[in-house]
Amino acid sequence: MIYKADENRYNNMIYRRCGHSGLLLPALSLGLWHNFGSVDKLETIREMLLFSFDNGITHFDLANNYGPIPGSAEENFGRILANEFKPYRDEMVISTKAGYLMWPGPYGEWGSKKYLIASLNQSLKRMRLDYVDIFYSHRPDPDTPLEETMSALDLIVRQGKALYVGISNYSAEQTQKAESILRELGTPCLIHQPRYNMLDRWVENGLLDVLGKRGIGCIPFSPLAQGLLTNRYLNNIPDDSRIAKPHGFLKKETLTEQRQNALIRLNEIASNRGQSLAQMSVAWLLKDPRVTSVLIGASSVNQIKDNLQALSNIHFSEEELKLIDETSIPVKLA
Ligand SMILES: NC(=O)c1ccc[n+]([C@@H]2O[C@H](COP(=O)([O-])OP(=O)(O)OC[C@H]3O[C@@H](n4cnc5c(N)ncnc54)[C@H](OP(=O)(O)O)[C@@H]3O)[C@@H](O)[C@H]2O)c1
Repeated sequence: MIYKADENRYNNMIYRRCGHSGLLLPALSLGLWHNFGSVDKLETIREMLLFSFDNGITHFDLANNYGPIPGSAEENFGRILANEFKPYRDEMVISTKAGYLMWPGPYGEWGSKKYLIASLNQSLKRMRLDYVDIFYSHRPDPDTPLEETMSALDLIVRQGKALYVGISNYSAEQTQKAESILRELGTPCLIHQPRYNMLDRWVENGLLDVLGKRGIGCIPFSPLAQGLLTNRYLNNIPDDSRIAKPHGFLKKETLTEQRQNALIRLNEIASNRGQSLAQMSVAWLLKDPRVTSVLIGASSVNQIKDNLQALSNIHFSEEELKLIDETSIPVKLA
């Protein structure tokens, strides 16, 4: 059957301006890091993507290495773009990144011009696209001059292979430097993609202020701490959960008894707000106007449905915020 997008798809989504740019992003975006690779079911992938788009999620986030196997998430996304999504390309914001290991040898990772240009060319082929909307430097490179990495991003925009550029995992200080270089080159830094959730708040220590002051958008990744901040692990470790899977970075050891108890208490706070823990975790990020969009992952349509409900209540009382601060136990995840 030919896919036709839901006519009401824009009715319930909130769109927020990305920094000082002209681009609006949906308050909820979908990332394809896990559950969209060659090890996953294409039918579930298809269902999740179509459901998202039908509900106003216009932004899909990829990277060269998403899979496993690396590259396969872009290939799967390309397949759906070429078929179901073909008439809707101009209604979508598609991003990809390069920075982590993609191929052997000295040109297969980090931030050289050599690597970034080659990697984006490969990504475009895998997704069967002429251009992406946003291209990111996925991580800062301690050995390549920042000027080289930023001038590669500038070149990519001038070549028409990306409309906007962003950075990910850069510190507050690195962000300031990168933004200044890009501004001088004439290609503004659109967006920063940092890890940010109730259990990992490093961005509150300077980065968010830099983003606010410089007019750069912010799209937090792993907003649910890879699933910890949901109902997934409140009782046990489900067989189909990210912790139970052999690939990925979320490990059993993370779920200590102390942390599980904290998650149970956070879940109670969420229940008192009439929200699931996942919904409260998304809403908690959106309470800050500097956060443009929350970048969730998902393994089923029901999870995306659940997370979309977060948008109906993103206000917190001082008391709730204090209680959440006292209950969250920090965790560092990859
Ligand atoms: N720039 C970077 O360095 C970087 C790094 C990491 C991620 N990212 C981006 O951020 C995106 C999101 O990261 P993430 O997948 O770690 O995000 P996340 O939203 O913190 O975790 C997603 C996982 O949480 C669970 N989940 C989601 N909604 C749920 C719900 N309503 N109820 C119960 N469980 C729910 C699912 O786990 P199960 O699979 O167990 O069902 C899902 O796979 C990635 O896809 C990628 O685009 C970027």
